[in-house]
Amino acid sequence: MAILRAVHLEKTFAAAAGSTAGVMAIRGVDVEIEPGEFVAITGASGSGKSTLLHLLGGITRPTAGKVILEGVDLAAIGDDDLALVRRRRIGFIFQRYNLLPELSLVENVGLPLVLDGIPEARCDAAARAALETVGMGHRADHRPDALSGGEQQRGAIARALVTAPAIVLADEPTGALDSENSRRVVELLRSIVADHGQTVVLVTHDPGIAAEAGRCIRMADGRIISDTLQPDSPGRPPVARQAPAHRGKSGGKRPGRKR
Ligand SMILES: Nc1ncnc2c1ncn2[C@@H]1O[C@H](COP(=O)(O)OP(=O)(O)OP(=O)(O)O)[C@@H](O)[C@H]1O
Ligand SMILES: [Mg+2]
Repeated sequence: MAILRAVHLEKTFAAAAGSTAGVMAIRGVDVEIEPGEFVAITGASGSGKSTLLHLLGGITRPTAGKVILEGVDLAAIGDDDLALVRRRRIGFIFQRYNLLPELSLVENVGLPLVLDGIPEARCDAAARAALETVGMGHRADHRPDALSGGEQQRGAIARALVTAPAIVLADEPTGALDSENSRRVVELLRSIVADHGQTVVLVTHDPGIAAEAGRCIRMADGRIISDTLQPDSPGRPPVARQAPAHRGKSGGKRPGRKR
C-alpha cells in the first residue's frame, strides 16, 4: 500500500495586491509513493516542485484534492493534529539547513523529540545515534556555526530521521553545497533508503542527482509530465525491483501516469 498518496491535488495562491489573477501552482496532481522508494522530483524553476512537496508534507493545505499519509487524510484533520503528524511522521530537509544557532548540533537533532515531551536523556541518546548514522557523531556538541555547510546538512538529515518518520521530504538539500558535499548528501540519503528502508522524496534541479534516485517525477507548469522508474539507478530499492503488478511490465515506465 502506498505510504503517501496525492489525489487530484490543486493549489492556487491568492492574487497579489493590485492583481486579480491568483497563481495556480499545482494543477491536478495524482501520485503514489510506496514504502522504501527513493523518488526525485525535477522540473524548471516555478514548475511547482516546492509547492507540491509542501502539500505532501502538510506544510500547506491544498485548494482542492487530498493528501493521504499512512491512510490518514491530512485535509480531514485539524491544525494541531496536522502539526503532530508533521513532527512525528514526516522528516523535512531544506536547502538552508534551518538549524537553530543557539543550540548544539545534538540539541538541534533531538529537538523534535523534546517537543514531544520525551525525557531529555532519551532525546539525547536518540539524537546521538542519528548523528552517528550520518557520520557526525564526533561533532555532536558543536554549534552549527562551527560546522561546514555539508556537515550542517548532514546534521539536518539526522534531525529529519530522529523521529523515525514514515517519509523524508527534501527540498533542494544540495542546493547550497559544492559538488563533493552534494555527492555525500545524496549518497547518505540513498543509504538511508537502502539500509534503513526509509522512504525519501527529493526535489532537485540537478539531473545528475535525479539520476541517482529509483524513480524520477518531472513537473512542468504545476503538473506531472513524466513519472519514470530508473531501473539502472543505484537508488532503486529492492522492493521496487520486484516489479509489483500495479507498475506493469513496460520496462520501468509508468504508463498510466505519463502524459
Ligand atoms: N506563497 C506564494 N504566493 C504566491 N505564489 C506562490 C507562492 N509560492 C509559490 N508561488 C508560485 O507558485 C509557482 C510554483 O512555485 P514553486 O516554489 O513551487 O516552484 P519550484 O518548482 O519549487 O521553483 P524553484 O525551482 O525555483 O524552487 C511559481 O509561479 C511561484 O511564483
Ligand atoms: Mg522550489
